[in-house]
Amino acid sequence: MNFLIKKYTIITYGCQMNHHDSEKISYLLETLGYTKEDDLEKSDFIIYNTCLVRENAELKVYGQLGALKNLKRKKPEMIIAVCGCMMQTGDARATIISKYKHVDIIFGTKNISRLPSLIARHRSTGEVIVDIEEEDIIDDETPINREHPFIAYVNIMTGCNNYCTFCIVPYARGKEISRTPESIINEIKDLAKKGYKEITLLGQNVNSYGKTLSPKVTFPELLKMVNEIDGIERIRFLTSHPKDCSDELIDAMASLDKVCENIHLPFQSGSNKILKDMHRVYTREHYLELIRKLKEKVPNITLSTDIIVGFPGETEEDFEDTLSMVEKVGYDQGFTFLYSIRKGTKAAEMQNQIPHEVKQERFQRLIDSMYKIFYEKNKECLGQTLEVLVEGISKNNPDILTGRTRGYKLVHFKGGKRNIGQLVNVKITGHNSFALEGEIV
Ligand code: SAH
Ligand code: SF4
Ligand code: F3S
Repeated sequence: MNFLIKKYTIITYGCQMNHHDSEKISYLLETLGYTKEDDLEKSDFIIYNTCLVRENAELKVYGQLGALKNLKRKKPEMIIAVCGCMMQTGDARATIISKYKHVDIIFGTKNISRLPSLIARHRSTGEVIVDIEEEDIIDDETPINREHPFIAYVNIMTGCNNYCTFCIVPYARGKEISRTPESIINEIKDLAKKGYKEITLLGQNVNSYGKTLSPKVTFPELLKMVNEIDGIERIRFLTSHPKDCSDELIDAMASLDKVCENIHLPFQSGSNKILKDMHRVYTREHYLELIRKLKEKVPNITLSTDIIVGFPGETEEDFEDTLSMVEKVGYDQGFTFLYSIRKGTKAAEMQNQIPHEVKQERFQRLIDSMYKIFYEKNKECLGQTLEVLVEGISKNNPDILTGRTRGYKLVHFKGGKRNIGQLVNVKITGHNSFALEGEIV
């Protein structure tokens, strides 16, 4: 091995799944003797873990790769790699190979564990190495170099079978496959031994967990098993699809003490016509009924969502249905996206695309309305004492700590380094739309 090459930088785009994959990449690079570096100029190995869920995620990667050309010219021994969801598509791979000739290694989402051998092949041949795995496999063996010492993401499944018509994820991540409960439980027991307090179970549609296993295991059954593990204090999960959000899940949330009173339940659009065209397989009424049950059975539940604005054919009336959903439900948090055409998906072929200005105008109205609702929801916390897991020190003020409530609300409060990693009670004294302020009691 070339002993001069020692420092690596990983730049990650996209969802928690990608960030979690980067923790595996980081492990593999450190076994090869690399150490982590934030400054690109000082790095000997730069890797982009990419996302293609919306066009702007892709454009950022191309922009950044373009800017690396000069650095690579000055430092030709540097290795540049690109991996992640974008690399699962032939178009993006072809663009990188033809226009970004300074990229040395390209690989996909299913063969991360082969990275050390790809680096070795590149070193010995000097050639551009492209390695994409087509088979649907789940890697639960590569160790993870976790970014955080007491909060962990745990993959429970990979892929997605839903094929929402706007979404590229099933093409990038392949068919849905679940990890066995034994493998998941062993990983979490090991995390508990190492002092981890909070875990987030990850999948594109966690409520459909276990369908590929024999014997079948349901997601609420998995939650029960995780709830038994000593040392783990909080359990979260991401993402839930409304079509698979069962009564069994709501009951599990209500009865399992470690499962936090918080759910991210994307509704995407409030209009039944648009939901049908999106192939979401639920109606507005079904979604509202789920929310009613969740609020009834899980006291103090907090809610978040994803919404797409400007899906093909969305009329002003359809959009108003989305606005009224937001008001009816009363979200604590949420993410709104301008519909982005993704080549290869059904919606990309639809003829009635919405002009950008219309999307933009609706988007603005939606976020104005959402931020007001977040403000009101946070206001309800004033005077309450909430349990907070202290995550770290505020970037802007060394005397202020930050943490999250069980409802995933961000809280700022005074405290010392010794509190980091602890569960503390915080009395809420102030708020805005996005965070709470308080005092340890
Ligand atoms: N599996 C998750 C979400 C994965 S992608 C789920 O089903 O909820 C995260 C979010 O990106 C989606 O919820 C959706 O709101 C948004 N998204 C996906 N494709 C998009 C597109 N083409 N344009 C705009 N937003 C999109
Ligand atoms: Fe995409 Fe739909 Fe699958 Fe979520 S459920 S990843 S939005 S196809
Ligand atoms: Fe993006 Fe891939 Fe996640 S496309 S949203 S990084 S699964």
